Amino acid sequence: MAGLEAIRYERGKLEVLDQLRLPHEFVYDQVSTCEEAFDCIKSMRVRGAPAIAIVAALALAVELFHRKDGAKTKDETLKFINARLDYLKGSRPTAVDLSNAIKLLKTKSQDAALASSTAEQETQCANIRQAYIEAAEKILEDDHTTNLAIGRYGAEYLRRQHEPATTPTDEKEQSRFYTTSPPGTQGLPPRTYRKLSVLTHCNTGSLATSGHGTALGIIRSLHKMNYLDHAYCTETRPYNQGSRLTAFELVYEKIPATLITDSMVGALFARKKEEMNISAVVVGADRVARNGDTANKIGTYSLAVLAKAHGIKFVVAAPTTSIDLETPSGASIKIEDRAKTELTQISGAVVDANGQVDVTKTARVAIADQRIDVWNPSFDVTPAEYIDAIITERGEVVRSAKGTFDFKTIMPERW
Ligand code: MRU
Repeated sequence: MAGLEAIRYERGKLEVLDQLRLPHEFVYDQVSTCEEAFDCIKSMRVRGAPAIAIVAALALAVELFHRKDGAKTKDETLKFINARLDYLKGSRPTAVDLSNAIKLLKTKSQDAALASSTAEQETQCANIRQAYIEAAEKILEDDHTTNLAIGRYGAEYLRRQHEPATTPTDEKEQSRFYTTSPPGTQGLPPRTYRKLSVLTHCNTGSLATSGHGTALGIIRSLHKMNYLDHAYCTETRPYNQGSRLTAFELVYEKIPATLITDSMVGALFARKKEEMNISAVVVGADRVARNGDTANKIGTYSLAVLAKAHGIKFVVAAPTTSIDLETPSGASIKIEDRAKTELTQISGAVVDANGQVDVTKTARVAIADQRIDVWNPSFDVTPAEYIDAIITERGEVVRSAKGTFDFKTIMPERW
């Protein structure tokens, strides 16, 4: 396998990796209709803000390729596209990427209808379908380029936060340092720096995107550039995206990493910050409001508070498609509540008496009294004042003295 792929697509065919079966089984489901995409997103077989948007966009591309619209006029084609997109929008509400993709796809389809209004009706329908398919495929392509840029900008941002260090005499310790020219001082003699360790939450990697990832993409880039000492990932209760997915990606990529429970983060910062040079918490985003308040996986806010208390940078990695300039602050972000069984039950592969995992046998077990009342918000909002920088594919935006973010410099066209 070349690289982890959550989404496999060729024109007319879409396959989605069933993330509920990871890390034990690697099974791709064919997604041929918008209903199948809706179900796949809702049940979290695919998840992560960019991946949700891509799957929804491509599912309709597949329907249109196979002419499921059955339309005879351009108005019928547009009506079909708009209705299918509105339906898909209801699958998961918090991440803004899906809404942004839908807006873009509707505009592209409408533009194609206007541009071909003098042609035969049949040609007009075909032109709209073609324009839609190309726009959906571009969302997939752009996401990958975007993630690589976020990875690069994020790694450079974190590297710039560090002062040069003295090269250790202990040979074993030397592998935890790297030597390079200090930023912006080309020509001066190279200096030695300590590699850094970072913590991430949830899953923001190849499995949450078209590839590479956002926050996990920064970790990948840090590792590739030889700046990374160690990655820590949280379990991410209740759905365990950290232990099921991020841990799997880190092992797969051979990135030195350790899994901890969400409740161990304070102890990690208190006991290992100096020893491991824990320099940043790097997380993704489902929606960044105009002032920088960020909705992300439940537990993110607690990490931000802990990071501030320990003088550790808190960095959000988000494509500009996750920045919602129409939402003034986090107070207006709709947070998805999920089923109580996510807390009271758990699924996994069976472990035999010798400690061997039998991937052919899975079980769902109860881990709480099933009668207990449960509150299960899937996301929380981290106020902008706790975030040091937001890394996008267009560069970083740092928190202003007022404690908010000004996205005008990187998104003047949408401001
Ligand atoms: O509920 P999930 O697994 O879809 O939540 C995912 C997250 O919160 C991610 O951090 C976010 O979507 C960014 S993914 C690049």
